[in-house]
Amino acid sequence: MGVSSNNGVLVMILMVVTLALSTITSVNGGNFNQDFEVTFGDNRVKKFYRGQVLTLSLDKVSGSGFKSKRAYLFGRIDMQVKLVAGNSAGTVTAYYLSSEGQTHDEIDFEFLGNVTGQPYTLHTNVFTKGKGGREQQFHLWFDPTLKFLVDNTPIRVFKNHEAKGVPFPKSQPMKIYSSLWNADQWATQGGRVKTDWNKAPFTAYYRNFNVNPNHAAAVSAYTESKWQNQQLNAWSRRRLRWVQKYFMIYNYCTDVQRFPRGVPSECKMI
Ligand SMILES: *[C@@H]1O[C@H](CO)[C@@H](O)[C@H](O)[C@H]1NC(C)=O
Repeated sequence: MGVSSNNGVLVMILMVVTLALSTITSVNGGNFNQDFEVTFGDNRVKKFYRGQVLTLSLDKVSGSGFKSKRAYLFGRIDMQVKLVAGNSAGTVTAYYLSSEGQTHDEIDFEFLGNVTGQPYTLHTNVFTKGKGGREQQFHLWFDPTLKFLVDNTPIRVFKNHEAKGVPFPKSQPMKIYSSLWNADQWATQGGRVKTDWNKAPFTAYYRNFNVNPNHAAAVSAYTESKWQNQQLNAWSRRRLRWVQKYFMIYNYCTDVQRFPRGVPSECKMI
């Protein structure tokens, strides 16, 4: 999956690549040894192939997580993630970008596990200046436990409506975070299905991390203006509409029960 952030639109992209772990030969940009550090879970975070592959695991005692050492602003971030396979009910694999502090910006992907044969739910959110509440949820058009895939499909876009008073995440550099943890109180089918600890440890795989530009401080005025002027192309707009039509299962912008006095203002802006 990837995240493209620019002044005009913020695009959340999903990707899958059908390659076996054993075929990894090239170092493409990032390296888990150099670029990331463990946030929790100690030796539940493992690195292989000289830092080209990382795994997180979850057992009854603890989950695990990592974060980037550097912070990023503008650009594209790619990470291939293979989620917990089989009965992943109660597990959550979170992958997000976040700055720090009370008025932080944050872009979230959370993959909520399910029983074998039932679909993962991808839960997304966008925080700007500390305010979130912008959830959209999706089912996926591929099995995220079988493939590292993908296809550059945008799944949501957050446009820059700063001129109309909606903050946009363009000035606070964000680090990349990921974690695997247990949330069987609420995650799967509303909390009705619990984690089957007989299946532990649960494992998620990461590889082919790449980020460009590779550092917030490395963003030149030229790069910034390039991102500011970039728009979705016709293919991406069509894919986005396809995802919204067939795979979106929740959208805060249409939840009138939650917002009886009107949905947030950016929902009405084009
Ligand atoms: C799990 O499967 C059920 C039934 O297909 C579906 O309604 C739900 O959205 C899926 N995801 C989660 C996280 O429960």
